[in-house]
Amino acid sequence: MTTSSAERGERLRRLGATHVLDRSGDGGPDAPEGFDVVLDVVGGAGLPGLFDRLRPNGRLVAVGAVGGPPPADFGMTLMAQFQRSLSFATFSAATVPAADLRAVREDQFAAAARGGLTTVRHDVLPLDEAVVAHRRMDAGEVFGRIVLAP
Ligand SMILES: NC(=O)c1ccc[n+]([C@@H]2O[C@H](COP(=O)([O-])OP(=O)(O)OC[C@H]3O[C@@H](n4cnc5c(N)ncnc54)[C@H](OP(=O)(O)O)[C@@H]3O)[C@@H](O)[C@H]2O)c1
Repeated sequence: MTTSSAERGERLRRLGATHVLDRSGDGGPDAPEGFDVVLDVVGGAGLPGLFDRLRPNGRLVAVGAVGGPPPADFGMTLMAQFQRSLSFATFSAATVPAADLRAVREDQFAAAARGGLTTVRHDVLPLDEAVVAHRRMDAGEVFGRIVLAP
């Protein structure tokens, strides 16, 4: 998992994350030297720096760009490390067959129903406070999900 602070990293570890890459620092004394795979939802200006965190033959997979697009020349960072055989990919659930997505969702709802899947709920707000929810998300203070109750 990548995260934006040591405090959030600790919360992710308590939720079961094995390795946490803190983008604001070096990841702490227990951080691995490098990673075989990094899955990143943030993108933005910091994306090229994630190539430096990969081991040789490592793979960076962008699954979102919530922090905006990467710099236009981010591919140059990859080419400059040609001899480390790194690779970059995007992944979108839009390419997963609908039947597979339905099967995964059925598994997840079933796991939630028997208490085997816990959601991280930051807050519950009435639906007409959706604007407040978005402001909190924009401010970066939300950890997990805000539920809007109709
Ligand atoms: N590939 C797919 O099929 C797929 C499917 C669904 C969603 N997505 C994409 O995945 C991304 C994440 O979605 P989500 O619903 O999980 O979003 P989210 O809850 O708003 O954000 C996830 C995390 O990203 C970090 N973050 C949020 N805004 C940021 C910003 N402006 N700059 C830097 N970090 C920020 C925060 O973690 P920290 O502060 O701990 O870093 C936050 O907890 C989105 O880009 C979404 O479009 C992709």
